[in-house]
Amino acid sequence: MTLSIDVIHGPNLNMLGRREPEIYGTTTLKDIDQSLVHRAAALGVEITTFQSNSEGALVDRIQHAFENCHGLIINPAAYTHTSVALRDALSMLSCPILEVHLSNIHKREAFRHHSHVSGVAQGIIAGFGARGYLMALDALVEMIREKRNR
Ligand code: DQA
Repeated sequence: MTLSIDVIHGPNLNMLGRREPEIYGTTTLKDIDQSLVHRAAALGVEITTFQSNSEGALVDRIQHAFENCHGLIINPAAYTHTSVALRDALSMLSCPILEVHLSNIHKREAFRHHSHVSGVAQGIIAGFGARGYLMALDALVEMIREKRNR
């Protein structure tokens, strides 16, 4: 069976490329999603990407993953630090979750040091810019395949 991976991007990430490029780089979200689709094809997995600025829409998307996906990559953006609703939705999933941040949240303001999501994530990738998403996809697929072959 072909593995199905969901990628979820939180608020303001639709502005990547133009948003504080000194922190988040100049790669756009479209570029990131395209590179993920290419890598997914090379890895032989299916991938779906989704972005919303709204907390409820992100919860709905996570609930959709409950039935439909084998692994989830999420950059919850600002909701990382505030959203119990996202954390509760992610807690329901039985598939592995990788949390991604473009910037190193631990090097930044104190309010970014705490993540509500990390406690339910298998792993975290932060500070590698846009390439962090590809690192996450490679790692996630490898982890899922490893577990299946055990
Ligand atoms: C972010 C870090 C968050 O603190 C911030 O609110 C974001 C982006 C990142 O990818 O570095 O919007 O998740």
